[in-house]
Amino acid sequence: MKILNVVGARPNFMKIAPLMAEYSRHEDIHAILIHTGQHYDEIMSKLFFNELGIPEPDINLEVGSGSHAVQTAEIMKAFEPVVLEHKPDAVLVVGDVNSTIACGLVAVKLGVKLIHVEAGLRSGDRTMPEEINRVLTDSISDLLFCTEQSGVNNLLREGISPKRIHMVGHVMIDTLLKNKEKAKKSNILNILNLDGDDFAVLTLHRPSNVDDPVIFGRILDALTIIQNDMPVIFPIHPRTRKNLVSCSLGKRLEEMPGFRLTDPLGYLDFLKLMSNAKVVLTDSGGIQEETTVLKVPCITLRENTERPITAEIGTNQIVGTDPQKILAAYRNATSGNWREPQIPPLWDGKAAKRIVEIIVKSI
Ligand code: UD1
Repeated sequence: MKILNVVGARPNFMKIAPLMAEYSRHEDIHAILIHTGQHYDEIMSKLFFNELGIPEPDINLEVGSGSHAVQTAEIMKAFEPVVLEHKPDAVLVVGDVNSTIACGLVAVKLGVKLIHVEAGLRSGDRTMPEEINRVLTDSISDLLFCTEQSGVNNLLREGISPKRIHMVGHVMIDTLLKNKEKAKKSNILNILNLDGDDFAVLTLHRPSNVDDPVIFGRILDALTIIQNDMPVIFPIHPRTRKNLVSCSLGKRLEEMPGFRLTDPLGYLDFLKLMSNAKVVLTDSGGIQEETTVLKVPCITLRENTERPITAEIGTNQIVGTDPQKILAAYRNATSGNWREPQIPPLWDGKAAKRIVEIIVKSI
């Protein structure tokens, strides 16, 4: 069985790693890895392949950045000849980035079976580019693998046959559990002079937060107060850095002594940083899930989440961008006033094994 596996952007890499490892245990599977090149910086891409032991991509489409239409179209144009040449039995896509929908669409138009890993998540917010990617990819997929029960429920509500839907747990958590011990050896706390200190970690990259100076400014209002209390470590996404440089908010950050900007970190350094943080503030999807497993309080700077299990039983609080709400959640988190979190069902490090077993039986 030949499977083309697609990755494009940073959050895809930790999801594909355990699947590639699992395929290698099946002699009858020929797994080919395609990198679309949506992310291309050394620290946004190559570093993760090295750290997570992902094999070199067989093909890199090298599409790079662009508007959504341009990026999606370029990926489709570059991916179609690859599918035509390899004639795979299936194409597997992960997550919700532009590479996911672009390659999914190419596959189904060529009559190739499509597998979606991390299916069914819904924020209900159609202004979010990822929400469109999720809805569309799920609607054309033949096999849909879900990380949480809400995903299964959403797919059933959208009329997808229950035969196609499988609740399997979370491949990203497979990677986290596998690398937790290894990450302890990272010396990122020493490098950032944090040993023994309480500190907060911040990540921000959603267009809705960082492309609008008013909203970005409101978040900074809350962070101005937090950084007086404890250092705030901010590994900054390239898109966020560009926006800061182009507006006056960058100057405000420079005037905050507790704020520490770093380049984006590798997987192991970031895992170590998150594991030791007093609190994490983020607009990422995956970090809401990783903090739940690490039992570190997470404050989500968005109005909604497509991963409700993290708020229902994990450590996540969805607070939006109102400074007063952010500060209230911060006080709550740092007072130790949190209920004991639970690990979501099947987030046990065996999701990739379950997925590959189902693929072998179904395709
Ligand atoms: C993409 C995903 C988002 C995911 C995020 C993780 C989509 C629609 N969005 O957002 O879901 O959470 O990745 O990082 O697919 N850039 C660089 N170097 C790179 C990559 C990007 O400098 O290696 C800069 C470019 O200016 C680019 C911008 O970041 O225009 C945005 O990159 P893009 O891939 O369009 O989206 P992300 O914001 O990274």
